[in-house]
Amino acid sequence: TWNMGSFLEEAVRDVKNKVGNRKVLCALSGGVDSSVAAVLVHRAVGDNLTCVFVDHGLLRKNEAQQVVQTFRDKFNIKLVHVDASERFLGKLKGVTDPEQKRKIIGTEFIRVFEEEARKLGEIDFLVQGTLYPDVVESGTATAAVIKSHHNVGGLPEDMKFALVEPLRWLFKDEVRRLGEELGLPSEIVWRQPFPGPGLAVRILGEITKAKLDILREADFVVTDEIKKAGLDKEIWQYFAVLPDMRSVGVMGDERTYAYAAVVRAVYSHDGMTADWAKIPYEVLGKISTRIVNEVPEINRVVYDITSKPPGTIEWE
Ligand code: XMP
Repeated sequence: TWNMGSFLEEAVRDVKNKVGNRKVLCALSGGVDSSVAAVLVHRAVGDNLTCVFVDHGLLRKNEAQQVVQTFRDKFNIKLVHVDASERFLGKLKGVTDPEQKRKIIGTEFIRVFEEEARKLGEIDFLVQGTLYPDVVESGTATAAVIKSHHNVGGLPEDMKFALVEPLRWLFKDEVRRLGEELGLPSEIVWRQPFPGPGLAVRILGEITKAKLDILREADFVVTDEIKKAGLDKEIWQYFAVLPDMRSVGVMGDERTYAYAAVVRAVYSHDGMTADWAKIPYEVLGKISTRIVNEVPEINRVVYDITSKPPGTIEWE
């Protein structure tokens, strides 16, 4: 086991040597890998790095703000925050097919990124948060959207950059240690995996702003209670899903007809297989009570007890 401090020094030196005084671009998602890679490269090249954060509006509660605060305010990194929520919602209007949703989001993501990159002028390098397992077996499901699209040639021919991949010798746990060494906040270092298409694969049926807001609130409760119970490091992913389904309930002496929310939580090592998490009943109870109390559009909470296979982790 090597020492992260000396690995960092060497990695910073390598990036400096490779890049010199040229311009570097990074697609920042707020995930662990792109975040650690960005901060490391920033240490090496300072303001020659620009990060582009394409906010597709399908992120969790407070997520976009947190990315902006961390990178712009705390680390002083040049950050372009593209709020493309309306644009993505427009493209997704009326779309219910899961594969079509993914395709639209992937394509639009690349388009927005490309437009922003062109505005920046001459760019020589692109930062990729590629890890050792990605190098060995490229095209894993957890690879960031930008990564997979870049690999399959998502960016136009005249936009091919040389790659800077400072994490290509590291495993995930090493990237987390490196992130701590670089002073990244623990919410980012210990962030659970989050799919590139975001909440779009957790809302069944058409994606609307209203449904996104409902899901964000329910999801926030799940995250909050799992953390409070100290289960966040043993559970691989924990989140809420909004199926396209309503049921009858009763609140006070009023009949309600509202959405059901699904709680999904799994143990896993790599996302390829997963076991549904044996969350204590008290924690499940708190989650249920809070969601129904705090999210008026939801009147019922169910827990998904399907492992993978046969169920996937995400619902779409
Ligand atoms: P499934 O749902 O296939 O998910 O069991 C396995 C793991 O991959 C994540 N996932 C994605 N990650 N882009 C990503 O970057 C995607 O389109 C995507 N789809 C699923 C999922 O969250 C889980 O960790």
